[in-house]
Amino acid sequence: MSTEVQSGQKTAQNAAPAKGKLGVMVVGLGAVATTMIAGVEAVRRGLAKPIGSLTQMGTIRLGKRTDNKSPLIKDFVPLADLNDVVFTGWDIFEDNVYESAAHAKVLDNETLQQLKPYLEAIKPLPAVFDQYYVKRLHGTHVKKGKNKMDLANQVREDIRNFRKTVDRVVMIWCGSTEIFLEPTAVHASIEAFEKGLQNDDIGIAPSQIYAYAALTEGVPFANGAPNLTVDVPAMIELSKKNNAPICGKDFKTGQTFMKTVLAPAFKARLLGVSGWYSTNILGNRDGEVLDDPESFKTKEESKLGSLEYIFQPELYPDLYKDIFHKVRINYYPPRGDNKEGWDNIDIFGWLGYPMQIKVDFLCRDSILAAPIALDLVLFLDLAQRTPSLRGIGIQEWLSFYLKSPQTREGLYPEHDLFIQLMKLKNTLRHIQGAELITHLGLEYYD
Ligand SMILES: NC(=O)c1ccc[n+]([C@@H]2O[C@H](COP(=O)([O-])OP(=O)(O)OC[C@H]3O[C@@H](n4cnc5c(N)ncnc54)[C@H](O)[C@@H]3O)[C@@H](O)[C@H]2O)c1
Repeated sequence: MSTEVQSGQKTAQNAAPAKGKLGVMVVGLGAVATTMIAGVEAVRRGLAKPIGSLTQMGTIRLGKRTDNKSPLIKDFVPLADLNDVVFTGWDIFEDNVYESAAHAKVLDNETLQQLKPYLEAIKPLPAVFDQYYVKRLHGTHVKKGKNKMDLANQVREDIRNFRKTVDRVVMIWCGSTEIFLEPTAVHASIEAFEKGLQNDDIGIAPSQIYAYAALTEGVPFANGAPNLTVDVPAMIELSKKNNAPICGKDFKTGQTFMKTVLAPAFKARLLGVSGWYSTNILGNRDGEVLDDPESFKTKEESKLGSLEYIFQPELYPDLYKDIFHKVRINYYPPRGDNKEGWDNIDIFGWLGYPMQIKVDFLCRDSILAAPIALDLVLFLDLAQRTPSLRGIGIQEWLSFYLKSPQTREGLYPEHDLFIQLMKLKNTLRHIQGAELITHLGLEYYD
């Protein structure tokens, strides 16, 4: 099509309005979750701005560049208003959200004191937990059940109880990274999975018990950790069957965020890469959990994936065939949540001459993750209210936020941050019947 804008599908039915309260059920009320919850309350009270949140601060261009029409995303699509968001959650510790936030030391004491009564009132429900899947944690506030199905039913009961107080519900996993699990026969179908819940199959981790409960109750589910969770046929089937959208996994915050910005730039300029060494020091509870090799393996797989897909070595063997890619995470308590991530990138240019790039990102893990968690929740709720999205299961357009995007079987994931953003915005245009933007732009020169 020879125009910069392309007709959106006029047949797309618009999303239903976001009426009433949106209940957000957070699994794991640790650093990320408490930073999101406290942040939302701070924004509601006008104490701070929702920096980093596309749903709250982002705009979307509509029509031609000469039309000068770029409304806020939240004015273009019907997202839940922050004032209508209600939080609850589960944790393996009894600490309320104020106590947990104070422990995490992400937000300063002055901010926390201002929000204290609100945060104290959010107390975790007892969790589904098994130390086999997170070796470094010893949970005390946990559910008991005769088998995994019984535990799933208890979570479903929690969802139903919460649902009585709100109009819609979304669940998000902000819990710890579990040990590395691969899909097995138990994950192959809903039927096999349900049998596995009855038989306490070892292949079913706690995160999957929550996800099963959510999807069975028709609740959209997001996964902030690299756990296997919904990345299996049984969950995809459930998601489609019950109109409960899912998306990929593992918040794309620090180092991988940088990787998925820099790698597409090298590829765009046909610069070769011979090595990419990434290391981190991190001192929060997440860092402690990731110090366990079995949990680290889960994270490592998630972090390693992006470069392979972006560089497409099969298409560019001269440039990317032999990249040495290494990722390390070191638990270093003095830094707390303030992670430092170093990247050494060995690149080569014209005639093969080598060069180096060093990145030293002194970031704040949960400050980067909180707006992502919020956006995922709000967009999943939107997806569920959108006729053309609610029944398709995987919401690939939310890959923008995730280290491991999820795709239909046989489809490779898109990791390039800017392609992901374009896909996200075009999805919003599409569902509102607006024209898609292709960036061709020849019509300006007619
Ligand atoms: N902060 C980031 O930049 C970032 C980026 C990507 C992914 N993540 C992932 O997000 C998750 C949360 O990170 P965090 O820094 O908040 O960690 P955290 O350790 O502070 O919080 C995790 C919380 O989950 C709880 N938990 C563990 N298992 C549970 C279960 N089965 N049920 C209920 N609660 C459970 C823990 O008790 C803890 O309170 C981690 O898996 C982390 O790897 C974080």
